[in-house]
Amino acid sequence: MLRANADSGSVISKESGLNMQDFLLQNYEWVRALHIISVIAWMAGLFYLPRLFVYHTRAAAGSEMSETFKVMELKLLRYIMGPASIASWIFGLAMLYANPGMLSGGGWMHVKLTAVVLMTGFHHMLMIWRKQFAKDENKHSEKFYRWVNEAPTVLMIIIVIMAVVQPF
Ligand code: HEM
Repeated sequence: MLRANADSGSVISKESGLNMQDFLLQNYEWVRALHIISVIAWMAGLFYLPRLFVYHTRAAAGSEMSETFKVMELKLLRYIMGPASIASWIFGLAMLYANPGMLSGGGWMHVKLTAVVLMTGFHHMLMIWRKQFAKDENKHSEKFYRWVNEAPTVLMIIIVIMAVVQPF
């Protein structure tokens, strides 16, 4: 049976003496697959939510259309993007914990993590803009949201090239 053992820190099985790093290395492909699944869900929301904002700018405050957009935006953030972003971080950091050499092996992981931190910052800006729409206090134009919609695309391209090609 797998369980945490408070006495000896990260040992997770008294019988096998398997520590957390060994466990993650033995199941690395599963962790990497779960990482990619969470990232796909997160990216779907990061691409879709700014599109909702683009069309929400056309809906009159208090109108049925505007109220519908508010529900869609809240559910997308709360039930898909939030959990997916947390899962992406957990599985990503788990792989880094299992294989910390990736941080000193070359610059690709540093460039990737910088782009991921910017992506997480963009996620938080979307949360702020959603709250403004929810209070009928949106401050930005349709054109503004069309432009910011390009940010996750550019960051995603950088991240995936760094993660797959590992060019330097
Ligand atoms: C949220 C924080 C993130 C962390 C800490 C993180 C960390 C990692 C680590 C350590 C690996 C394993 C690399 C290897 O074994 O070679 C990995 C793989 C990968 N990551 Fe992330 N990542 C994060 C977010 C993202 C995001 C946002 C994307 C896409 C937009 C992404 C795309 C990928 C891909 C495609 C792989 C697989 C590469 C391959 O198997 O060749 N990651 N990530």
